[in-house]
Amino acid sequence: MPAAMLPYACVLVLLGVHTAEAAGAAGDNRLRWEPRCQRPLPDRAPSTAVLPPRLNGPWISTGCEVRPGPEFLTRSYTFHPSRLFRAYQFYYEDPFCQEPAHSLLVKGKVRLRRASWVTRGATEADYHLHKVGIVFHSHRALLDVTGRLNQTQAGQDCARRLPPARAWLPGALYELLDTRAEGDCVAALGFTMHELSLVRVQRRLQPQPRAVPQLVEELFLGDIHTDRAERQHYRPTGYQRPLQSALHHARPCPACGLIARANVHHPPELPPPLALPLRLGGWWVSSGCEVRPAVLFLTRLFTFHGHSRSWEGYYHHFSDPNCRQPTFTVYAAGHYTRGMPSTRVRGGTELVFEVTRAHVTPMDQVTTAMLNFSEPSSCGGPGAWSVGTERDVTATNGCLPLGIRLPHVEYELFKMEQDSLGQSLLFIGQRPTDGSSPDIPEKRPTSYQAPLVLCGGEAQNLSRPPLQMAPRAGGPHAVPLPLLLLVLGLAFLE
Ligand SMILES: *[C@@H]1O[C@H](CO)[C@@H](O)[C@H](O)[C@H]1NC(C)=O
Ligand SMILES: *[C@@H]1O[C@H](CO)[C@@H](O)[C@H](O)[C@H]1NC(C)=O
Ligand SMILES: *[C@@H]1O[C@H](CO)[C@@H](O)[C@H](O)[C@H]1NC(C)=O
Repeated sequence: MPAAMLPYACVLVLLGVHTAEAAGAAGDNRLRWEPRCQRPLPDRAPSTAVLPPRLNGPWISTGCEVRPGPEFLTRSYTFHPSRLFRAYQFYYEDPFCQEPAHSLLVKGKVRLRRASWVTRGATEADYHLHKVGIVFHSHRALLDVTGRLNQTQAGQDCARRLPPARAWLPGALYELLDTRAEGDCVAALGFTMHELSLVRVQRRLQPQPRAVPQLVEELFLGDIHTDRAERQHYRPTGYQRPLQSALHHARPCPACGLIARANVHHPPELPPPLALPLRLGGWWVSSGCEVRPAVLFLTRLFTFHGHSRSWEGYYHHFSDPNCRQPTFTVYAAGHYTRGMPSTRVRGGTELVFEVTRAHVTPMDQVTTAMLNFSEPSSCGGPGAWSVGTERDVTATNGCLPLGIRLPHVEYELFKMEQDSLGQSLLFIGQRPTDGSSPDIPEKRPTSYQAPLVLCGGEAQNLSRPPLQMAPRAGGPHAVPLPLLLLVLGLAFLE
């Protein structure tokens, strides 16, 4: 089947990308190249790391977060100059963070140690927990948590510390950890604060629609392993979606004020999200330099063609945390299936992506030399590589030295949202933390990567007539969506 589709895919590639370089000459059926979109950095929102990171002050989620599982939560952390911290984690029943389930109050101490040797640009830290308390906001939440605890022997002892459902008091705080008492129910619950062991603080000027740019401060904390069983042991090498300083955050942010004012007894209930029809036309780009756990720095750029369910993407890889020193670029293209609403992650859409074509462009001497020395049959066939020159690696079934194998299938999870500035965001599934690829349905993601943003308002206009994703009769979500994926490899260049 992929082979049969290939010729059509090639045509799309030509129309979509190569001819597109002749911007302006584009006819109705062609995507116009948007040069501005090709490099989201640095003209978008240049950011600078604050080193050493200054954690002091209140930090909040800017919206509903999804962790692998899935778990839906918002966070509000406050760090004091004494290095003590107080963290609230508010968990919800629903994917929009409107129905609170339970909340955690976490107190402890954190100490910054040194620059990370693994994740450039990050700082390693140690932490100690002094107290972890839980408040249930409904009977059902209490039953869910005791049910989860009941699954293990250690957990059953902890479950006995919680009240039977009949005796539950709204608002009561139950201790899960007490350094003076026996037993640690925190681990039994599968909870850790290992996210505090990797930190980065970043500042950037956020452009405002009709005002001067505003200073935004972001706190990146360590990522959460996608496999729950690994969470207790995993030490992060990548980041979660950042928290923002409650003092310097992007505005408007309706969720921010609610989260900043909340406490463990009064969890924030977020306003309903702006429902977005799944229109994938236009170019979707990273809003900043992204970090992948294994550790890789990259920016992504994708486009989708709804009528043929084909997609194309560029993955620009870099060796530094500011994405200024390019190492190589991968262009990939293929098809995707029609989206189906996810039953596992409410609010998400499941799709299957197929990568059938890939091109590689080495961007530095090291990568060029590595490709020059590789078996020609493993990457692109006979012929020399040179810096900045793209080669098609489809005929060699990908490029093994870079971990790219074709054809390749990935089981995906997507969602679209609109941020408070009206910008469309496209969330693509988080890659498995172990570096594998979600190539079987069981490995389909249950959480998301940093969102891509629609590049420029014009892109939307451009794509309207020929490229819009026509809603298909018959699907509740009507839409084939987007994108992309994959990490393609990388392990090799670490
Ligand atoms: C957990 O186990 C205890 C004792 O085995 C039992 O009394 C309780 O009903 C169980 N709770 C849930 C929610 O399964
Ligand atoms: C790659 O091979 C070509 C041809 O042998 C050579 O001209 C070029 O300098 C090599 N590049 C690197 C970075 O090794
Ligand atoms: C895009 O569409 C909006 C509203 O539909 C319009 O105001 C704007 O002028 C359009 N931009 C371009 C470049 O056509």
